[in-house]
Amino acid sequence: MILPSPGVESEYDRKSELKAFDASKSGVKGLVDGGMTKIPLMFIHPHYNPDAKSGSVVSQFRVPLIDLDGVNEIATLRAKIIDQVREACENWGFLQVVNHGIPASVLEEMLGGIRGFHEPDTQMKKEFYTRDFKEKVSFVSNFDLFQATAATWKDSLSWAVAPNPPHPTELPAVCRDIVMEYSKQVKRLGYTLFELLSEALGLHVNHLKDMECAEMMFHAGHYYPPCPEPELTLGARRHTDSGFLTVLLQDQVGGLQVLHQNQWIDASPMPGALVINVGDSLQVITNDRFKSIEHRVLVNSESSRVSVASAFGTTLFPSSKLYSPIKELLSQENPPKYKEATLQTHVAYLRGKRV
Ligand code: OGA
Ligand code: NI
Repeated sequence: MILPSPGVESEYDRKSELKAFDASKSGVKGLVDGGMTKIPLMFIHPHYNPDAKSGSVVSQFRVPLIDLDGVNEIATLRAKIIDQVREACENWGFLQVVNHGIPASVLEEMLGGIRGFHEPDTQMKKEFYTRDFKEKVSFVSNFDLFQATAATWKDSLSWAVAPNPPHPTELPAVCRDIVMEYSKQVKRLGYTLFELLSEALGLHVNHLKDMECAEMMFHAGHYYPPCPEPELTLGARRHTDSGFLTVLLQDQVGGLQVLHQNQWIDASPMPGALVINVGDSLQVITNDRFKSIEHRVLVNSESSRVSVASAFGTTLFPSSKLYSPIKELLSQENPPKYKEATLQTHVAYLRGKRV
């Protein structure tokens, strides 16, 4: 009889653990409801260094905070805001905005709606569970469960708004109205942001919008349950976003960190604020002027956390459209760093370089 080597055996166990977890359709929240005190092996991140935990490094850095109040009314204010946006996108790839035009009540209600979907372990929730992203609405734990080396401590409800928006009745009833309303308002904010970004690059105000940067949208309402062993896992491993721009709404729990000058800096929650970050696709078309920066999410043992990431542009739905750095930004001193290629090719290249 040939006994499998320990390596093969543990690999086999891992696969069945993943499959059983996926088949439960209850996500990480389902595990936590079961009352566990130790996290399953599949969630353990061997390279996660707890010394790098939030709070262990007191940093002088803060994610830039930009007040958009008056941006469309007062020309001198607008010019100042554009300078701040340029500086943040060049040096951080991240910023937070306040007075962005989405009422605090809409933000609150949106976080509540996403929480309302994730918290009860209902049959209705299981019916949304799928790994097929061609579905207009999907609930899943870990988009890359079967590809990644370790799973993360989160569940996500996702919906694409453009180019194929869901009909309201396709969304879970518990958050249907607020999801429609929030999606509409974030899209409008996206237009404002792409205008500011275009001007920050010295381009015509409509340049990025005309390139259809805001046309494809994908939203993910994440739920990070409390974790009994938070130092062994992550809510989101270090990554960059693939699209042009992400708008992130987070509750007041905290856990998002941004890599800045080799330090993990907390993107601390601020009431009413939204976090904005540059994605890989924007880095490519700006010829590396605006930076797509790595970030991650820590979990904690006390509180669950809710966030909503709205991505403008995504490589989740492959397109044959070709992109290269914007011609107006190039010169003899600043030759193109990328050839013409699809966004999937660009993102794969950038990610390969980062490993
Ligand atoms: C993402 C992401 C951060 C968060 O969805 O890409 O980085 O705080 N989310 O949920
Ligand atoms: Ni991200």
